[in-house]
Amino acid sequence: MRTIIEPFRIKVVEPIRMTSREERAKLIRHAGYNPFRLKAENVLIDLLTDSGTGAMSTHQWAGVMEGDESYAGARSFFKFEAAVRGIFGHAHVIPTHQGRASERLLCRAVVKPGDVIPGNTHFDTTRANIEDAGAEARDLVIAEGRDPDLDHPFKGNIDLAALERCLAEAGRERVPFVLITVTNNSGGGQPVSMANLTGARALCDRFGVPLLLDAARFAENAYFIKLREPGYGDKTPRGIAREMFALSDGVMMSMKKDAFGNIGGVISINSDEWADKVRTLLILTEGFITYGGLAGRDLEALAIGIEEILDEDYLKYRIASTAYVGNNLSAAGVPLLKPIGGHAVYLNGRKFCDHIPNEQLPGWSLSVALYEHVGVRACEIGNVMFGTQDPKTGAWTWPALDLVRLAIPRRTYTQSHMDYVVEGIAELYQHREEIRGLRFVHRPAVLPHFTATFEQV
Ligand SMILES: Cc1ncc(COP(=O)(O)O)c(C=O)c1O
Repeated sequence: MRTIIEPFRIKVVEPIRMTSREERAKLIRHAGYNPFRLKAENVLIDLLTDSGTGAMSTHQWAGVMEGDESYAGARSFFKFEAAVRGIFGHAHVIPTHQGRASERLLCRAVVKPGDVIPGNTHFDTTRANIEDAGAEARDLVIAEGRDPDLDHPFKGNIDLAALERCLAEAGRERVPFVLITVTNNSGGGQPVSMANLTGARALCDRFGVPLLLDAARFAENAYFIKLREPGYGDKTPRGIAREMFALSDGVMMSMKKDAFGNIGGVISINSDEWADKVRTLLILTEGFITYGGLAGRDLEALAIGIEEILDEDYLKYRIASTAYVGNNLSAAGVPLLKPIGGHAVYLNGRKFCDHIPNEQLPGWSLSVALYEHVGVRACEIGNVMFGTQDPKTGAWTWPALDLVRLAIPRRTYTQSHMDYVVEGIAELYQHREEIRGLRFVHRPAVLPHFTATFEQV
């Protein structure tokens, strides 16, 4: 059979609400032309993020009822610890409430002003937390990873020559760790190869610097390795994941993605000294070391989810269903980032809206038009998120890519939902010259995309 089906059936449903185009035009104007500011009930198909938006399984919901809500030493923690350690394999497992809490704790614990953190492409909250600690987040993705039209099996790879130069220049004194994000979300959900991780490990060994992974989408990365890297076709996703993590000294993870959690995160590390520092900070702001800001029921759901995600039937469906959306959009002529990533399809905002200059935020304008046109919410990862303005001259520096991410929540939408999305975007593409540019009304200094407001030009 060529047809790849959803490897689950639906037991509980949540209605979604149709709105008219006129209604949506008013709603997005009231939201300051910022899709983050919309009420979710006014969104028909929500592709803003795949983070925390997945559907839990019957096993996970059963686990919720098993949650041990003891303050310290809860049974649920030990299940969580065993599940995480069984995959990542590090000495210390520290739960946190979500990915950015892991980032903040680790940055506070081990990063000092003037440090440099090299990575493939740092996610926005990772970058913000590194910068908040006074350090530089340096993106060193391979050149192919910055070309949206180029087909390459592992566009998330870090440029090993650039990493070597960075390590030689800054030295172990100024590089507390190297951080590789698998898959590379901000670079288009593109995977990192085992060969690349092995190369990074060798460099880290040579310079005496720890190698950490941002493992938010580790299972999707493992499945891409199985599909694309010679020698891995017969290995299980779990075996591949184990091999990836054996190359690392630690992991930061948002468990809202590849652990099927609605909330949750983890730090998994080998260093006793770092674990000590992180746990001290954890108690200060998150909670005791056996719950880290989560309820016992969350820990149960995550312990089950992180195992479920490695199911090969699920991963096959996941990668194929994301590619289905991308391939159909591509067939309709819609410009997008290639190849199709694991969790999302990324529209090329600048090409889609080639009549809108960078200053008028083409990707963001496209995301607004998409909501107005069909009620689909997407997320710009481009000029608004990463553009920077020189405070003296007012001149803007724009990121290499201005993308609009259609992130696909896990096990949440069916193929007909995706057919609707494809049809809507293809239609919008036919009328793209009607999309109007936007300018900032209010631009917060940090992570502007979440709360900025705009007006039409
Ligand atoms: C690669 C990556 N790292 C970190 C985070 C932050 O995680 P959270 O949203 O759980 O704080 C995200 C969230 O999307 C992510 O994609």
